[in-house]
Amino acid sequence: MKSSEIQILDKKFREYIPEDVINNKVLELAERINSDFAGKEVIFVGVLNGSFIFAADLFRRIRLRARITFIKLASYAGTSSTGEIRELIGWNEDLKGKSVIIIEDIVDTGVTLEHTVDNLIIRNVKEISIVTLLLKPEAYGKKINIDYTGFEIPNEFVVGYGLDYNGEGRNLPSVYTLVK
Ligand code: IMP
Ligand code: MG
Repeated sequence: MKSSEIQILDKKFREYIPEDVINNKVLELAERINSDFAGKEVIFVGVLNGSFIFAADLFRRIRLRARITFIKLASYAGTSSTGEIRELIGWNEDLKGKSVIIIEDIVDTGVTLEHTVDNLIIRNVKEISIVTLLLKPEAYGKKINIDYTGFEIPNEFVVGYGLDYNGEGRNLPSVYTLVK
């Protein structure tokens, strides 16, 4: 195993986006949001579990009047999406008339994102924006515009910085990609 490689359960991963590159990007995204939403009050909706680290790092950099809430969805089993969404923690904040920013760790097929956006539309929010750290353009099959994307990545499985492989790897400070 090479020194940049790590083992998680039965799979090997190699470092793909280093910690400092992620941190700079998070700061850049926060600054864009601060300037685009200047003078507005916003509510961030983080999608658990994957987005919790990105959400914390991003939210800390927000200089607006802001709140954050979380929903918990699950669609992945192992290294691929099941296409079916389970809602494990639902919606408990009154979002009517609010400017909402969805925080995602990664947008893959977009099924999770679409589910989240549909749930905001029926709650009569004022406006919906989306920030994701990672986007897999080749896998993304939805028309919903993603306002803020950290990194576009190939259609490969990644872990770290909140993202998991069967529950593990979320605590890695960098993003790692699967070695085949
Ligand atoms: P989608 O519904 O197919 O867009 O998948 C979205 C969710 O699946 C993300 O919020 C992640 O939690 C998970 N996911 C998608 N791709 C990956 C990956 O490469 N590594 C780990 N989790 C992933
Ligand atoms: Mg997620």
